[in-house]
Amino acid sequence: MNSISITPGKNNIGAFINNINLKKFDQNQVDDIKKTLNLFGVIFIKKQNLDPDSYQIFAKSIGQPVIYPRLKGLSEKFPFINVIERKPDDKNLSFGSSWLHQDTSYLANDRPRYTMLMGIEVPTGQGNTIFSSGFNAYEKLPDEIKNKIKNATGVFSSSGPIAITRLEREKEMGIKSSASMEAEHSIVKMVSGKKTLYVSPGHLIKIKNVNEKESDFLKNYLIDHVNKQEFIFSYEWSKGDICLWDNLSILHMASEIKNCKRVMHRITIK
Ligand SMILES: [Fe+2]
Repeated sequence: MNSISITPGKNNIGAFINNINLKKFDQNQVDDIKKTLNLFGVIFIKKQNLDPDSYQIFAKSIGQPVIYPRLKGLSEKFPFINVIERKPDDKNLSFGSSWLHQDTSYLANDRPRYTMLMGIEVPTGQGNTIFSSGFNAYEKLPDEIKNKIKNATGVFSSSGPIAITRLEREKEMGIKSSASMEAEHSIVKMVSGKKTLYVSPGHLIKIKNVNEKESDFLKNYLIDHVNKQEFIFSYEWSKGDICLWDNLSILHMASEIKNCKRVMHRITIK
């Protein structure tokens, strides 16, 4: 089969993979997809419309899918596919909205690395997913800040500012809210030979080993920085599209959706 062709996304964030049909792919294509994913942080594959079987098979070609207990599963046969549904009369904040974040940064070891979404029912004109590139954001930091964060460690909590969207979701599903989880990670990570920023604004609560003033300064600086328009690509969905991202190098958030239905299938991958 052909090898893949790619086009970079807006602001050089992520890459569109143009010529692939994920109902049928070979190992060479999987190798190319993984390479592109790790190099660009996020890949966009338009209009695939995979059935749950093909979707799960593709996820397994990337890594080990994991059960994500906080979201509704599709069915017993497809335990790895979570359904993210927004109903027209939902008034709550969308799950994962309002704060850029890197999924499950509050877990220490063994946290899942990749998140994949497929658009099942997509409203026009709203419900974009917003991506920010940790690679690009790191590269554009002033040397003075790069120096300050060279060996910095961040503390990430599941009770960070984004928790409100999870708490609302848990209430909706009748799930008893879980205890807060906290983990420490280095702020600068190396992926595919490039440095990237791991700051998950939705979860970051402080920078370790510096005084409170410096911790607040760095935290606010980095959060403002990754939110700058030059690092952002707001992805507009069409039905059947797949977005797959590396949570080490890409930050993301949902945008608000009002008065319409939207259904996404999500798979979390280690
Ligand atoms: Fe998320």
